[in-house]
Amino acid sequence: MARRPLVAGNWKMYKTAGEGAILVQNLEERVSGSWDQVEVAVCPPFTALKSVSTLIELDRLQISLGAQNVYWEEEGAFTGEVSPRMLAELRCDYVIVGHSERREFFGETNETVNKKVKAVFSEGMLPIVCVGESLATRDAEETDTFVREQVRGALEGIEADQATKLVVAYEPIWAIGTGRTPTPEGANDVCRSIRATVGAMFGPPAAMSLRILYGGSVKPENAKSFFGEPDIDGALVGGASLDADSFAEIVKAAV
Ligand code: 13P
Repeated sequence: MARRPLVAGNWKMYKTAGEGAILVQNLEERVSGSWDQVEVAVCPPFTALKSVSTLIELDRLQISLGAQNVYWEEEGAFTGEVSPRMLAELRCDYVIVGHSERREFFGETNETVNKKVKAVFSEGMLPIVCVGESLATRDAEETDTFVREQVRGALEGIEADQATKLVVAYEPIWAIGTGRTPTPEGANDVCRSIRATVGAMFGPPAAMSLRILYGGSVKPENAKSFFGEPDIDGALVGGASLDADSFAEIVKAAV
């Protein structure tokens, strides 16, 4: 992998603030030799961001921090929402945007994803933009068209230099939490297509620099096979990121 790989843990709605701090401490002990070669990020729920952020700062940990969602307005009467500035103040490096669970359960669309992507960049953070097809789309052999459309919708109107720093996570919905995965070659085909789409929109430098992660049932046993693919620059890990041992093994597979 020419680009520095990123292995990010999406904790979803797991871990309280206290549990999250313990997990990060345990993770740090297990991966501290790997920083030069791989970037490691954790994406706790909103309520655990502060405790994890404080721990990272006080103990000078090399772990990057991400949130799982954001609203696009700076502030206002939006009960229950969190703004990009609030996340930037907690020293978040990344924000996951457009995860399939948010699209499915909370009505996110390519349009709202696009607004969030721009809002995240505007506060100096980087979006991890999630795309991926359902089983029905895959069975209809429309994965490529569908994912390209998601990428175009999410990135419309951003600057070319922002696109060079972007992270896209390809997460086939049918592989999330199921133990099923595409073949590494099959996942790479979609990631190559994502890279080509970004290249067509923003030019070759963006295509070469953007990092594309694979997500969906990544485990210590299969991580290396995905990391061996030329267009896959790391992983977005759900279930296996909740345990320090298994997440550390996945990190080491990227070294
Ligand atoms: P699993 O690793 O649990 O399949 O989840 C993947 C995911 O949704 C990461 O965002």
